[in-house]
Amino acid sequence: MSYLLNGDRVIMGTDYYPEHWDESLWAPDLDRMLETGIEVIRIAEFSWNKFEPREGEYTYEFFDRFLDLCQEKGMRVIFCTPTATPPAWMTDKYPEVLNARQDGVLYRHGARRHYNYNSTIYQRFTRNICEKLGSHYARHPAIIGWQLDNEINCEMNQFYSESDTLAFREFLKAKYGTVEKLNQAWGTAFWNQTYTSWGEVYVPRTTLSNNTNPHEVLDYKRFVSDSACRWAKLQSDILRKYLKPGDFITTNGLFGDLDNHRMAEESLDFMTYDSYPNMAYGLNSHFTETTSLKDRFWSLNLDEVRALKGTFGIMEQQSGANGWNTGMEAPTPRPGQITLWTMQSIAHGADYVSYFRWRTSTMGTEIYWHGILDYSGRENRRIREVRDVRDKFRKISEIAGTQYQAQVGLIETYDNKWDAELDVWHGSVDRTSMSGLYSASQHTHTPVDLVYLRDDTKADQLKKYKVLFYPHAEILTQAQVDLLEEYVKDGGTVVFGCRAGLKDVTGKCVQQDLPGLARTLTGTDVTEFTLVAPDEGTIHVNWDGDDIEAAVFNDELQPLEGATVLARYENSYYKGVPALIGKKTGKGRTLYFGGAFTEKTAEVFFRRLGVIAPAADIVEAPEGCEITERAGEKGRYLFVLNYEKTEQTIKLHKPVKDLYTGETLQGEKTMKPYETLVLKV
Ligand code: GAL
Repeated sequence: MSYLLNGDRVIMGTDYYPEHWDESLWAPDLDRMLETGIEVIRIAEFSWNKFEPREGEYTYEFFDRFLDLCQEKGMRVIFCTPTATPPAWMTDKYPEVLNARQDGVLYRHGARRHYNYNSTIYQRFTRNICEKLGSHYARHPAIIGWQLDNEINCEMNQFYSESDTLAFREFLKAKYGTVEKLNQAWGTAFWNQTYTSWGEVYVPRTTLSNNTNPHEVLDYKRFVSDSACRWAKLQSDILRKYLKPGDFITTNGLFGDLDNHRMAEESLDFMTYDSYPNMAYGLNSHFTETTSLKDRFWSLNLDEVRALKGTFGIMEQQSGANGWNTGMEAPTPRPGQITLWTMQSIAHGADYVSYFRWRTSTMGTEIYWHGILDYSGRENRRIREVRDVRDKFRKISEIAGTQYQAQVGLIETYDNKWDAELDVWHGSVDRTSMSGLYSASQHTHTPVDLVYLRDDTKADQLKKYKVLFYPHAEILTQAQVDLLEEYVKDGGTVVFGCRAGLKDVTGKCVQQDLPGLARTLTGTDVTEFTLVAPDEGTIHVNWDGDDIEAAVFNDELQPLEGATVLARYENSYYKGVPALIGKKTGKGRTLYFGGAFTEKTAEVFFRRLGVIAPAADIVEAPEGCEITERAGEKGRYLFVLNYEKTEQTIKLHKPVKDLYTGETLQGEKTMKPYETLVLKV
């Protein structure tokens, strides 16, 4: 059985860099970690030179010494493959291992993640180092599992080296077979882009105003994802030969242009995530532009990692201020915020939390990215708070292995995610709706799951949701429609937003009446559509007395056979035209809404569809608190998290057990700034 995520208890860890510190610090550091409640450390993800200081010369003594000390002290270790930072001797002698900018200039040695997945030379070095590390270290008793690379696709998820072009051609040949079929898929008749041989095809290169063929870019994103998945598999296939029984393979973070589901299925036992909610406070943070949720918006990322395999771990949890010497600065967590953000991870399904990092680095780009301890290692407020978290973990341990509860699912597909990144129209409805639906979910205490539709998704897996929102199903397939129809017939409700069924899987618009493949299921005909003109202000829709907003883009709707008009536009030249259509199918129904979902709109949908605030009969809390639920055989647990710097008063309508104190609570309870509660129902 795996040491982590085995349903037994919630475990605390930290990230440690033995190569950054004098060896005399190792033993006292390990003692102090253990005394702080830290049982697991992650090491070695950036230390290739400690294993292979020169090409073909291997040294294992440094980490042997460290691992033996860990074993002696009783510290468990997650060991990493060091491939995120290829050594200087390699990049200098074999520059083809480097990634390149779109204009072909190579990213040189001196930062990190400067390699490309498709270089056959880098693949050879990687296979070799994985073999060496696996065969030498994997049997070490202190090791409990492995992390592949570090944050695959982080910082840079575009690859333009020559190796990438060669691999892209192979990817396309396997997909299309002939150049003619590629031309059809990419619609190269437009602007005379027709290819006459594979040799003319490249990864997207610098084009005028960057208006590169969108169907090509969509395939390129799929290619980047494929490259990253193959990269993870190359490493895990080797390590698996050497793993001790029960040891696991994971990797950390969720980044763009990567089908994390595929990577997790092919290569990982479970996924871990790196949680830095403080990025939402950072200066110039793009997170603050779309929502007022700040650090609470991070919960969406945790939902995203949970969507992969359910329970997950946190490989890097914020424990100090953010900051690189080149930017990303954010303040030190206020008293209580380390606990709050840790419990945010647990509340969303994590059973392992590892703090980044034990000591703050005194050197390099991350000198301002603080860990638990500052540069000198003196006792501080943050380590005292971590000790308090340790005590809380012991009290709440029974929640390990329980599952996050949600009645609402937000449907996502990788094709639509990627299309929304390259298509500004799709992008703007998508951003508005994700932010609107998620803000409403947070403020009304309506937990949601992200539900990825995959080729092998079965209607049975969708059954547990009362309502599924598919906000903008631009790229829609017949398989998805069939799946959703089965779910609806069985009693489910699917809500579509504007622009459904507009495109096929190549990203080309379908030559059909809209919403294309969704017409029969939704009983909806889209007769015309428009971007909401800037001088229109807010477009209102009256839904039996509920005023909702149809933001960004509006489809003009008409009901087809069996469907009914539920609401109409209130203004603009399409005033009076249907904006919301409902259709019953089997035991369930579909709703087609002509706009994007703002927070106000989403809130009305949650309420009218009967899924708002499912725990309201037990706990009511102000908007500033998040409420989530985990449940399983051991019981039902509610998390209440106060994200505000002010006190918040909650109401408990039934007696519940406060797991931190063991007391029974009922009636009004005032929560301190950033206070968290774990309540057994
Ligand atoms: C993570 C990364 C760590 C460290 C940290 C703070 O994304 O995995 O290595 O860089 O951010 O910047």
